[in-house]
Amino acid sequence: MTILVTGGAGFIGSNFVLDWLAADGEPVVNLDALTYAGNLHNLASLAGDARHVFVKGDIGDRALVDRLLAEHRPRAIVNFAAESHVDRSILGPGAFIKTNVEGTFTLLEAARVHLQSLDLAARESFRFLHVSTDEVYGSLPPGAPAFTEEHVYEPNSPYSASKAASDHLVRAWHHTYGLPVLTTNCSNNYGPFHFPEKLIPLVIVNALAGKPLPVYGDGQQIRDWLYVGDHCAAIRTVLARGRLGETYNVGGWNEKANIEIVKTICALLDELRPDAAGPRARLITHVKDRPGHDRRYAIDARKIERELGWRPAETFETGIRKTVQWYLDHADWVAQVQSGAYREWLDANYGARSAS
Ligand code: NAD
Ligand code: TYD
Repeated sequence: MTILVTGGAGFIGSNFVLDWLAADGEPVVNLDALTYAGNLHNLASLAGDARHVFVKGDIGDRALVDRLLAEHRPRAIVNFAAESHVDRSILGPGAFIKTNVEGTFTLLEAARVHLQSLDLAARESFRFLHVSTDEVYGSLPPGAPAFTEEHVYEPNSPYSASKAASDHLVRAWHHTYGLPVLTTNCSNNYGPFHFPEKLIPLVIVNALAGKPLPVYGDGQQIRDWLYVGDHCAAIRTVLARGRLGETYNVGGWNEKANIEIVKTICALLDELRPDAAGPRARLITHVKDRPGHDRRYAIDARKIERELGWRPAETFETGIRKTVQWYLDHADWVAQVQSGAYREWLDANYGARSAS
């Protein structure tokens, strides 16, 4: 038995593959295009492990996906592959449509045909798990109840619109063709191997380098934050016991304003690695806001707890401390991802945002 993981060299996908194999899961075929966000160093600890087969390729390459399904006959597909960064989707939405919409479509079509080639028992146990985001639900007013699975889809960025489109395709392939799908909609993750274009790792690496910590607008935007290991555990749970065709919201019960996150990281770094120049909070710099910036996300994760018994194991305090410590212990990983392409991204995204 094998599972096919797509996007397994990215932030969440690589954590998932490592956790899955550590928990003695079946062998993994890992299909990843190795875009700027994919990094084989994340999987270095699996070198020589025959349970991990890495394939460099695009989920939109139908011939390749067909070949992998025929060759490995996985009992499940777990789809992490995506363009995932809102700011990049604003500067260049095309890649988001290509991978998130067309790529998911290609995977669904390949899975549909593959399913027909399976015997009854294999067909009944086959699963297509699609990993999605809470951003598909749009922005919540202050005080409004958190997103349930019944919340209307109101995506506001090219990223969230492309993920919403992919969720709809997954739903339709279940209703129309009977594909055995599961969808998870998770809040903002943080933890090891997080590419430093997203808020938490960006603030950690900039603070360590004594660089400005860019806070968009007033910094009062709220996100729900979940430690990545808890997200991986939720996906394993849904894959094992989720009801077919259902969607499950996954969250940390942990709403925090961005400015609070940034100040928490500064305080932790000051404690764990004091800076002779003074407290890191001096580096906080308010910059021009993100266009169409969603004000608040909050996840109601009661369904997955009630039906499947999943709850996060980490609090924000334990998870963020582990995360900051991981970045302190992995300066080599940080240096390796800060390539020329990374510096070009910083120029493209922050060059035009003067301090406000
Ligand atoms: P990431 O950007 O770190 O990784 C994405 C991975 O997909 C990379 O390894 C990349 O090389 C690969 N990839 C991109 N295009 C591909 C293609 N066409 N074919 C094959 N591989 C391709 O993203 P992440 O943060 O790990 O997110 C993983 C999934 O989880 C995404 O679907 C994202 O929408 C979803 N999600 C992320 C978060 C979060 O906070 N990061 C929260 C909820 C849901
Ligand atoms: P991000 O990590 O990009 O995740 P998402 O946009 O998917 O929620 O951003 C998290 C929050 O942090 C979001 O409200 C935007 C904000 N932010 C900043 O204030 N400064 C930054 O440099 C970045 C990257 C994000």
